[in-house]
Amino acid sequence: MSVRTTSSPSPEFSYVEDVSPGSGALPPRAWYASSDAASLSLNGSWRFRLSATADAEDDSFAGRGYDCGDWAEVAVPGHWVLQGDGAFGAPIYTNHLYPFPVDPPRVPTRNPTGDHLRHFDLPDDWPDVADAKGAAGGAVLRFDGVESCARVWLNGTDIGEFKGSRLPHEFTVGHLLKPTGNVLAVRVHQWSAGSYLEDQDQWWLPGIFRDVTLLHRPAGSALDFFVHASYDHREGTGTLRVDSDVDGRILVPGLDIDVETGQAITVPVRPWTAETPYLYDATLVTPGERVPLRIGFRTVVLEDGLIKVNGRAILFRGVNRHEWHPEHGRALDLETMREDVLLMKRHNVNAVRTSHYPPHPAFLDLCDEYGLWVVDECDLETHGFTEQAWRDNPVDDDRWTPALLDRAARMVERDKNHPSIVMWSLGNEAGTGRGLTAMAEWIRGRDGSRLIHYEGDWNCRDTDVYSRMYADHAEVDRIGRGQDGGPAKRRQLPFIQCEYAHAMGNGPGGLADYQRLFEAHERIQGGFVWEWIDHGVEDERYGFAYGGDFGEELHDGNFVCDGLVFPDRTPSPGLLEYKKVVEPVRMEGDGVDGVVRIANRHDFADLSALAFEWSYEVDGETVGTGVLTVPALAPGDSADVKLPEPPVDVRQTETRWTVRAVLAGDTAWGPKGHVVAWVQLWRAPRQLIGVTARRRPVLDGRGRITLGPAVFAARTGEPATVGGIDVIGLKLDAWRAPTDNDEGAPWQPDIRHGVLWRKLGLHRMQHRLDAVELSDDALTVRTRVAPAASDLALRTVYRWTSDGTRLKLAVSVTPEGDWQVPLPRLGVRLGLTAADRVRWHGGGPGEGYPDTDSASMLGRWESSVDDLQTPYVRPQENGARADVRWAEIGRGPDFPALRVEGGLPFWFTARRWTSEQLDAARHLTDLTPGDTVWVNLDHGQQGIGSQSCGPGPLPRYQLAVGPTEFSFVFSEINS
Ligand code: GAL
Repeated sequence: MSVRTTSSPSPEFSYVEDVSPGSGALPPRAWYASSDAASLSLNGSWRFRLSATADAEDDSFAGRGYDCGDWAEVAVPGHWVLQGDGAFGAPIYTNHLYPFPVDPPRVPTRNPTGDHLRHFDLPDDWPDVADAKGAAGGAVLRFDGVESCARVWLNGTDIGEFKGSRLPHEFTVGHLLKPTGNVLAVRVHQWSAGSYLEDQDQWWLPGIFRDVTLLHRPAGSALDFFVHASYDHREGTGTLRVDSDVDGRILVPGLDIDVETGQAITVPVRPWTAETPYLYDATLVTPGERVPLRIGFRTVVLEDGLIKVNGRAILFRGVNRHEWHPEHGRALDLETMREDVLLMKRHNVNAVRTSHYPPHPAFLDLCDEYGLWVVDECDLETHGFTEQAWRDNPVDDDRWTPALLDRAARMVERDKNHPSIVMWSLGNEAGTGRGLTAMAEWIRGRDGSRLIHYEGDWNCRDTDVYSRMYADHAEVDRIGRGQDGGPAKRRQLPFIQCEYAHAMGNGPGGLADYQRLFEAHERIQGGFVWEWIDHGVEDERYGFAYGGDFGEELHDGNFVCDGLVFPDRTPSPGLLEYKKVVEPVRMEGDGVDGVVRIANRHDFADLSALAFEWSYEVDGETVGTGVLTVPALAPGDSADVKLPEPPVDVRQTETRWTVRAVLAGDTAWGPKGHVVAWVQLWRAPRQLIGVTARRRPVLDGRGRITLGPAVFAARTGEPATVGGIDVIGLKLDAWRAPTDNDEGAPWQPDIRHGVLWRKLGLHRMQHRLDAVELSDDALTVRTRVAPAASDLALRTVYRWTSDGTRLKLAVSVTPEGDWQVPLPRLGVRLGLTAADRVRWHGGGPGEGYPDTDSASMLGRWESSVDDLQTPYVRPQENGARADVRWAEIGRGPDFPALRVEGGLPFWFTARRWTSEQLDAARHLTDLTPGDTVWVNLDHGQQGIGSQSCGPGPLPRYQLAVGPTEFSFVFSEINS
């Protein structure tokens, strides 16, 4: 008896698991829009049928006349799992684990497969349709992005299949087109051999997620061309040569250039830089077509161990950008892309790493136009192989090399004409191997005008820059000093952090300290914060969903929400911090002498685009403003500028100058007056407030103690009212809802404070009352605050005094036992029942923690309690205002309010739930406001750090346990 065996799926579907990149597609080429050749967008509503396996259906749907009447519809561009209200499956989030068994190149039998159908007629003015013969002429069908593998039929003819999700694929189709009734059929498989190369940390989202376009290709039109536009900074000239596969002419009216393709011409030009993105409009004229070009002249070299553009070393103030939209996933429209670029420019970001794949090409047009340095990264990551010590890694297996080279070529050919791209990146977290070397060699051969980046190559075998991710401050410092060892080649190279400062949840902390190192060492050319945007999925149940919310069997939770902007692109405090830390104008000085030193930290631009303004504040109130005349300093230059005489010279209270550098006029990316940089300089420091203890606590017969404006419960020693304001539960508080950075990543070898805190029981501290003592001038309450099962404790004494109208609380904390960990926070918490508005003098308008307070500007601020909350996608400690001198909280706008002044500046937090409720919540929708507003007045806060994927807070930002004293003065105000 014979047994017949078949491989699965059947041979007809073998392309799905074939390591080859595909067949039938045209060679890769430049991506551009023609000015006169016709094109037809095939975006829109497509008919759609989902099958559970790759081979569930035959290909009869691809022919003309097929009845798809009962099919569903999906929007193209789009991901089917984000459409159909769950009927088409769901997204899956994993960081580096493959969500299928690792057996390359095999994929699961359960392989969601979406058949897509689009019927279309050629427009009447489609050139060759209009001719007498009615033939369609030359035409190309372009797919800009399909995840992960597609097979395409036009009018029943199988025209090919491809992989490489975030790369374009084109097919010659003119011979198949009909004037009317064309049927385009696309079968998309979620899993393919290509999935092994696309293990980026993001949602797995199948679908035709970028544009589908039919492009007319007139006879005599170019298929591909390469713009070479360099800049000689010594001569001030640019050299232009455009190579084209079809001969033609290049016209640059602004430079009086009219030359043949292939011919070089050198003329004086304005160079392109990210700070001065000057583009020349040009046209490539071939016999069949006119192609508009935007040419930027610039030269990128590795020289003296530095990345130089136009002769100068540059400093990346970068971000890693994934493409993300909370409703549409990686299907982004032009306005969303523009919003990203504008937000970046407005927050002093000057560089983007397109992590971890080439973005929609329109994004690169925007980078050219508005000015951003771009590290264009190939669509390649094989991170999951780390689980098997990189065995079978496709980048070290020659069978996969054609696919790798195909990906490199599709990126380089598509994007080569963008001046903004200064480096090609081979991919991300793919280990090391011959395939990467082959990619690097191919890229160098094709485009010697840019540098090559790859982080996984610590020996810098294939790269022009030593790149790392999440190196801590000490290591970055060593690298900057050249004390990091390593192979000889590496020691000669510049250093960047292609990822650092993990912006997950509250944070990242320590940005300012990194920036100081980046600016101190020439070899260090900056970094790219991880990452730009939280990939939260808009979801009725949760607001924004993250990993696990779709029932995935394997997932990495909210690790997918680690951006500087929230999923809806609202800037998070982390972005505001980054903006301040990387501001390209550095100001410092002495407010007493009235001199401000202004340094231009741009690499290319002088300061002529900026105006400078001063304001003068007394106790946070602005009492004078004016304009400061500052010379148009060249990049790298600085000057001392004298401030005017102070409008009033009050010495008894805090007075300070604020100097702002603002846009002098409207620019392409920001309006006149937009603040680029600022500094605050003290004229006179804050005077400490004193409360003379003039009142005696009095115990009445009803279990109450009266002291000045306050009434206390005699049994607990806790205040019940201050003036007419009810106060509940005032106690020492050392707990905060751990941030993602407190919790740390599970693989972190170092101490993870959030984990230790919970282990110690800091979230369940018990308060033992030891004594309530009344003396002539004070009420003293002695307590011991400690968690169960531990001998660690914080002996806490509350000493209350009053001068009659004001009530002073002095807290002294004496630790007992061997405390090995810092505290989350240290201060008091109290509840107020009638409060919804706050005004304060201190840091604002947003939150700040010890290592995230650079952007916290001292001033007078006002907010509702609700608006004090920072909506991190996974709820966690947030919203503290730093350096608060005083705060008033009450029912506004016409308070009565409780006023709190700090003996020292303090952290102020108010929320309509407790820290415990905040800690328990998984999504913002779990937080239900109660009637009580819980106020934390903190003498200390633990720093934030970046341990969700990097180093924890530096020691100086840690809240070490030790004997501590702090005080607050409470009063009731009625205005
Ligand atoms: C890096 C990786 C990123 C992302 C990040 C953590 O290792 O390159 O893709 O996973 O860590 O969010």
